[in-house]
Amino acid sequence: MPDFKQLIDEALEKRLNAEHIGNSLVADAMRYAILNGGKRVRPQLLVRFLYDLTDDYHAGILAALALEMVHTYSLVHDDLPAMDNDDYRRNQLTVHKKFSEDIAILAGDGLLTEAFVALAEGNYPSKVAGILSDHAGVKGMIYGQELDLKLEDKEISLEQLKEIHRYKTGKLLSAPLMMACVIADKEEYLKDAEEIGMMYGLAFQIQDDILDVTKNLKKEGEESSDLKNHKNTYVKYMSVEEAKQQVKDLYDKILDKLNALPLKHETTVAFLESLFDRDI
Ligand code: IPE
Ligand code: IPE
Ligand code: MG
Ligand code: MG
Ligand code: MG
Repeated sequence: MPDFKQLIDEALEKRLNAEHIGNSLVADAMRYAILNGGKRVRPQLLVRFLYDLTDDYHAGILAALALEMVHTYSLVHDDLPAMDNDDYRRNQLTVHKKFSEDIAILAGDGLLTEAFVALAEGNYPSKVAGILSDHAGVKGMIYGQELDLKLEDKEISLEQLKEIHRYKTGKLLSAPLMMACVIADKEEYLKDAEEIGMMYGLAFQIQDDILDVTKNLKKEGEESSDLKNHKNTYVKYMSVEEAKQQVKDLYDKILDKLNALPLKHETTVAFLESLFDRDI
């Protein structure tokens, strides 16, 4: 089995250092944002699911890079002072702190644009770009970010919170599984892929909400980004233990659904299992 994380890291490194990206300050900020130790969950889901569906994964690499570039742009903008106003990400200064706010905005713009350059180069069926743009766009992740900001400080129901999580995080986690189905020419699995990815997005964001408090509680004096911003998160609605149980229930459903598909390998299942207890 290939080392999918290494595969993605190396391909990103190569892509971001390609001649067409160049050596401007914005290009440096783009590299700083993306080549710094992300978990690569979304691109790995794409290549792993493609491998599980078809026994090959090469055709998915450019699409996987595109997805990671969109994800990274969303993080660069999410950290900006006008949004979550965070100084650190992945234990390093955020892009606007390391460079400056204007450069961080442009680096996000650059990553988003480069994502579609990579997709165009991959010569994929138009549906692949359609899924990525729908899931990242104003009816996808961007809409989730809008809800997240708009509903800060507001009393909302748990159902409304789930809605925010599905959009801001679920959309970019269902996209890779769906893009893999199209690239594999196995569109009969699109619906299952979407359901699995959306459930996974909810579980992933509940874990992120839990980590925002548990991580910060470890170091005295460090504040939680979500508390500082009066965000609605799972741990506002229930205890950490109860939130962890919700994650477990979702994982059980996700793994049952994945295991019911006629896949050639189990690399997606193994990857999700490895993320169940994640502490980053
Ligand atoms: C963080 O995503 C933002 C969320 C949608 C929860 P990740 O936890 O995938 O971040 P990296 O890319 O591994 O740093
Ligand atoms: C971010 O959610 C989701 C995105 C679309 C970027 P958070 O704001 O909770 O992500 P972190 O905790 O900053 O990574
Ligand atoms: Mg945010
Ligand atoms: Mg944030
Ligand atoms: Mg968070």
